[in-house]
Amino acid sequence: MDILGIDIGGSGIKGAIVDTLRGVFLTDRHRIDTPDPSTPKAVADVVAQLIDHFDWKGVVGCTFPAIVKRGVVYSAANVDKGWIGTDAHALFQEKTGLTFLVLNDADAAGLAEMAFGAGRDNKGIVMVLTFGTGIGSAIFVNHTLVPNTELGHLEIRGKGAERRASDATRKRKELDWEAWAVRVNEYLAHVEFLFSPDLIIFGGGVSKKHEEFFPFLQTQAKLVPAELLNDAGIIGAALAARHRMDYK
Ligand code: BGC
Repeated sequence: MDILGIDIGGSGIKGAIVDTLRGVFLTDRHRIDTPDPSTPKAVADVVAQLIDHFDWKGVVGCTFPAIVKRGVVYSAANVDKGWIGTDAHALFQEKTGLTFLVLNDADAAGLAEMAFGAGRDNKGIVMVLTFGTGIGSAIFVNHTLVPNTELGHLEIRGKGAERRASDATRKRKELDWEAWAVRVNEYLAHVEFLFSPDLIIFGGGVSKKHEEFFPFLQTQAKLVPAELLNDAGIIGAALAARHRMDYK
């Protein structure tokens, strides 16, 4: 079943038509800059442009970098605060006339990795952590997702973990790989203590460069890089729409 997947991120909004049975793109990926400020109206306009670009008429799967329950956004760490309380399903449907399934971005990336990437064939407790502007998390128990876990906001040394250990912080503070890894290790140790995962999948754009920093990371659980990289959000969003994962 082919579905349009859209991935809303802090810097770009990207889409592609996905073959959800094979987890591959059927079109090129199209990207439009995230508007600044990223208000609900401005983002909905970009989503509509993507729908037009693909001339899409079916169901749409869409990620959002915040807590999302049944389409309603409940947080806004790295997007315009006007999103809090917004019903994204209703907003996007009103704008485009199409039916949407909106879910958290890390949950979507996790679903894709579990189905087609580094987590396939893995039972037990699997954690997918995405390191980007923030830190996203998805937890799977025998392949079932526990949605909206928000483990990027665990507190470490009196600060939200993503403020200390995200990839954006590495860049902003110009940390070398080893110095960043010290922060990531501290975070991973905390997460492992709380959840005892069997497998940790390290995701986000920076996972492309895992050879630079994996040698400095230490975990009890098996640690592997994500395989679907920047495509994971789009593929996972399409997959979630196929399965209508809105937790009703
Ligand atoms: C948000 C999460 C999101 C993560 C990655 C965090 O700041 O609270 O919902 O999954 O960033 O984008």
